[in-house]
Order: sequence, then C-alpha cells, then structure tokens
Amino acid sequence: MSTSPASDQISSMMHETRVFSPPPEFSAGAHVKSLAELQSLRTQAESNIVGFWEDRARDLSWFKQWDTAFQWKNPFAKWFAGGKINASYNCLDRHLGSWRRNKAALIWEGEPGELRTLTYQTLHYQVCQFANVLKSLNVHKGDVVGIYMGMVPEAVIAMLACSRIGATHNVVFGGFSAEALRDRMNDSKAVCVITQDGVYRRGAFVPLKPAVDQALSQVETVKHVVVFQRNPDAEISMTIGRDHWWHQRTAAVDGNCPAEELDSEHPLFILYTSGSTGKPKGIYHTTGGYLTQAAYTTKVVFDMRDDDLYFCSADIGWITGHSYVTYGPLMNGTTVLMYEGVPNYPAPDRFWDMIERHRVTILYTAPTAIRSFMKAGESHALKHDLSSLRLLGTVGEPINPEAWIWYHTYIGNSKCPIVDTWWQTETGAIMVSPFPGATPTKPGTATLPLPGIMADVVRKDGTPCEANEGGYLVVKHPWPSMLRTVFGDDERYIKTYWSDFPETPEHIGYYFTGDGARKDEDGFIWIMGRVDDVVNVSGHRLGTAEVESALVSHPSVAEAAVVARPDELKGSALVAFVTLKTNADTTMPMNELKEQLRNHVAKEIGAIAKPDDVRFTEALPKTRSGKIMRRLLREIASGNAVTGDTTTLEDFSVLENLRTADDE
Ligand code: PRX
Repeated sequence: MSTSPASDQISSMMHETRVFSPPPEFSAGAHVKSLAELQSLRTQAESNIVGFWEDRARDLSWFKQWDTAFQWKNPFAKWFAGGKINASYNCLDRHLGSWRRNKAALIWEGEPGELRTLTYQTLHYQVCQFANVLKSLNVHKGDVVGIYMGMVPEAVIAMLACSRIGATHNVVFGGFSAEALRDRMNDSKAVCVITQDGVYRRGAFVPLKPAVDQALSQVETVKHVVVFQRNPDAEISMTIGRDHWWHQRTAAVDGNCPAEELDSEHPLFILYTSGSTGKPKGIYHTTGGYLTQAAYTTKVVFDMRDDDLYFCSADIGWITGHSYVTYGPLMNGTTVLMYEGVPNYPAPDRFWDMIERHRVTILYTAPTAIRSFMKAGESHALKHDLSSLRLLGTVGEPINPEAWIWYHTYIGNSKCPIVDTWWQTETGAIMVSPFPGATPTKPGTATLPLPGIMADVVRKDGTPCEANEGGYLVVKHPWPSMLRTVFGDDERYIKTYWSDFPETPEHIGYYFTGDGARKDEDGFIWIMGRVDDVVNVSGHRLGTAEVESALVSHPSVAEAAVVARPDELKGSALVAFVTLKTNADTTMPMNELKEQLRNHVAKEIGAIAKPDDVRFTEALPKTRSGKIMRRLLREIASGNAVTGDTTTLEDFSVLENLRTADDE
C-alpha cells in the first residue's frame, strides 16, 4: 500500500444517485427472485461459510467427494481436499448424457465474418482429440503448457484439452510481445506452446507465430509448438522437430480420451498479472474451488438459462476469458458467442450488428469499451434491433455513472438490469456484484459482496470504515476460487496479499485487494481505484514498474517514472517521466525519441503498455531516502498546465527544495 484513498475522490463520487430496481418481469423468472431470497442466502453463508460453499460444490460432477471442505494454514488455503474432479469433464462430458449434447456450446464469428458452431458433442470430440495430441507430444499431468492465441475456438479447445489431462495452462494474451511471452514461459517452465499463424485484427492478418519463434530462442524448457492454421495463405516458418500443425496432428489421433481424475487442489492454470514490481506475478489457481465459484457466479450473476445466448467480449488472455468465456459458462451448459476481432471493425456498429444477427441475450463487456461506443454515438446502436438483450454486465474498472446510464438506455433499452461485477485475476471469480433479479442497482457501484464473500472496507488498522469513509477493500475470509500462491514465490504471495492488516480473533487472514473503496449508507461498495502502483488502462491491468523497467532497458534512458492520469476513454493513461543518459543521442528530435521509447515499450511488453505521454526531465523529484515522489508526478501529469506539450524538458530542480523524508 503506498497511498491513502483521497477524500476528494470520495466527494466526486458522492453525486445524486438514482436507484434502478430490477424489472418485476426479470425478477419473476430469475434464479434469485428477490432481496429477501438473496438475504436468506447471505444469512445461510454467514452462519456457515464453508457449508455454504460445500452446497455450491455439490452442483458440480465429482469423481470422488472431498474429505475436508476447507483447510487453512495461514495464508495457504485448500478447498475440497481429497475430492477428485476434472474441469474439462465438468464443461463437456456432464452435458453429453442430456439433451444438451446437441446444443451449441460455442458460436464463433471471425472478424472477416465466418461463422462456426460447435455443439457440446463436437467440442468434446475436438477437445479429446487435442488432448491426445498433447499426450503424443509427451505432455503429462503436472506439465505447464503455454497458450498464445487469439479468439478462436481452438484457444478454448486448447485450455480444455490441458485441463482434461491435468496439464496446467498458462495463457499469454496474444497482444503481448515476444519478450513478455519468453518471460512467462521461462518463469512457469512450460514444456509446450500452443499458438496460431496469426489473427485477424482491424481487417489485417496479424502474425503471432514469429513472436513465438523469437521468444523460444531464449526458452530451454519448451520442446514442442503446436500451430493452429487460421489463414492457409499465410507464410509461416516451422522449425522441424519442434513445430507441428494442429490439423495434421489431430488427423492422426482419435477422439477417445477419458478425463483424468485430479485432486481438487490440482493446478488448473497459471495466469500472469501485473503487480507493483517490474516482474509480473504468476497467479496460481487450482481446480475444485475455482470451478465451484466460477460455475455458481455464472449461474446467479448472469442468471444463466438454457435459452440464453451469452456474449462476453473479453479475450481468453485475461482472467475474464478464463472464468466467463470458458469455464463458468460451459459448466452451466451455456451457448457462448465468441468473437475474434475488434469491436469497431468494419464499422462502429459491429457489436450491435452481431447482437441483432445472433439474438444475443446477455452482454458482458468493459467500461472502456462502453465509453468508446458512447463516443462513437448511439446512432450506431439505434440502427439495430437489440431487443433480444435481457441482461448487461461490466467488469475491469469502475464504470462512470454517465457510461452506465448510456449503456442502460441505448443498449439495454432501459429494461435490462446491469451487473457491475468486481473481481480480480487473484480472486478467480466474481466477488462483489448485484444479483440481477434481486439487487437494486446504482450507477457506479458493484453493490454488495456475494453471499459467502466477506468483503469489507477497512482502515489501515483493520477496523471497519464508517459509511462513506474511504478505506481499503479487503476480504476477511478465504473463498473457494482464490489464488493459492504466486507461482514459485510464496514470499511474494504472503507479502503482497496477506501482510497489510492484522489478523483478529474473528477473522482468519485479511486478504488485501490493492483497491481503495468506500461503502455507502446501504453498504454498497464503490471502488475508488488501485492504491498501489497498478493501473487500469482501457481495462488492462499494468504495473507502472513494469513499464519503467521496459523504458530503462532502452540505451538512452537513465531513469524513468511512470504514473497514471485520468483519461476520459481509457480510464487511466500512462505518463512517463524520463531522464536521459548523458551520452544519449541529443541530436535526435525529441518527438522522434519519444516515439522510439513508446515503441520500445511495445516491443518489451506489448502495445497496450505504450505510454500516452513521454516527458523528458533533467531529474526526477525524490525524497531524501531516494524514493521518487510519485504523488507529485501524478499531480503534474494530471494538471492542466502540463497536458498537451509532451516534449518539454521539465526542470524539477526547483522541487529539490521540497525534498522531504515523506515516505510515499
Ligand atoms: O481495480 C480493480 C479493477 O480491476 C482490478 C483487477 O484487475 P484484473 O486482475 O486485471 O481483473 C480484471 C477482471 C476481473 C481490480 O483490483 N476492477 C475490476 N472490476 C471492477 C474493478 N474496478 C471497479 N469496478 C469493477 N467492477
């Protein structure tokens, strides 16, 4: 924790709030129909939290029941230990004995417009085949498999094939660079990478395989690469002995592959996410508890029904793509619409056009997307019949009330409830959210913790905040889908999440989320943003330290400090303050160098991490102990006086006088 949630942030959020009650016709058909029903679930959970989650776990298919529902060795948790389960079995096989066998599991639309439908039966077959491909490449239970793909059904097939045989997947977002892929493969000691030749994005075919080749030149553990062919005309180089075409290998195996009976605590996946140091953390998730919460939240938060067509626009490279494109919906037997490309190609109405053509009923997307739709204008939505929609969702960052109202009015036709869902890569599944048939919503708040989730807003000493007092969002009791550790780094796990608040006799362990928040007089939680050096840019989570270390790896850069400033569209934008080495090439125009540095960051991390502004400075303002005064830089970055001109040399020498021992 470095900064305290500022009280001015609170006052800016204390606006006149409208309350939107669930439409009675929605509530009547919902899984949870009223506040009273929700309250009774809450009471049940409060009286026996472990028992509450055991009841939810019973909805899954277990090969063997667990012996112990919950074990806690502060801060290491085990849920449903002794139980035997398989994620792929719960997503696929359990539906094959019912009419759902022939139901569409995935309806996929490529950016150029192709359509593919995979029923539960055909998805099962293809997953089994691909699981056999992995086995034929010597991938075993317990091995880590990298997945570096775009939004194609094969990405889901790859994930489910891994979980079928007990291999742990490590999905790396296709927009990340070769360097980012290399580091994630090395850190997790992956033995195999699944990728594709390239992806369609904004009308162009963007290659992915060259980044894999580049990354793997510095990875020793990966022995095999499987390449899905998206575009037969693409020229791809294949390394003999290491690289294999997906279609050739699957043609050589059968579709018989029983699901491995795995321990409940068997690692299902590692997913890297940004923290407050330069090195991303491998968030480590296991099977039984994760599946329990992913399945339950999908059912009650999205009020999932068999006749729904559910569209989640998240990429499988993020946790939302894991829990709410793949595992949660498929366990519920949902039909998932999966889309390959960008939301505004070939025109700003692409989403609305898809919703009309497919008759989508549930849309789950990010506030940053909503703000850009809003900017493009409602005329694009109004051209389309969106009347099939019955529920809307958001995730990833606070949604500003203006965007919420726009979403509700123009996309939801003023009739769809909105579920603003708060959660994290670390939490694995939704933690704070309305129940759409039960909870009255207010634009801008994720409302209340789910039953069984002991989230609260507390002061630094762990005591609960008063209503509307800004504090820290914590979780006071472990939950089934929580991360189990940071891969290979228990110390970092303990220090990052479990060391900020004292344990009390009533609470075993306080998990610190890294978010600042306040609770209003109704107990609704308003997220005020991160209080560490993590920022949300367009809903993507980035560590400022990561961007800083990318910048200092450029030969001209001596030192860099990266801070966030508010941005209307992206939520936050990155501003980099950079000091140059004395031997840096000063003949180069500053604008050119600025562009070079931005591209350097894209190369090191990925285009999403490119700083919006680069400001050159003679020195960075520091405390006496040598810490960069980030608060000051944030103020400068957000100040009107400095926006616009991004290339001036800042002179912080005057600020030297302000040096204090202030420990930010
Ligand atoms: O700051 C919170 C914000 O996103 C962070 C988690 O980012 P990530 O691990 O990438 O997962 C995003 C998708 C689950 C949180 O610490 N955040 C997420 N959802 C919300 C949110 N902030 C406000 N409201 C939300 N609904």
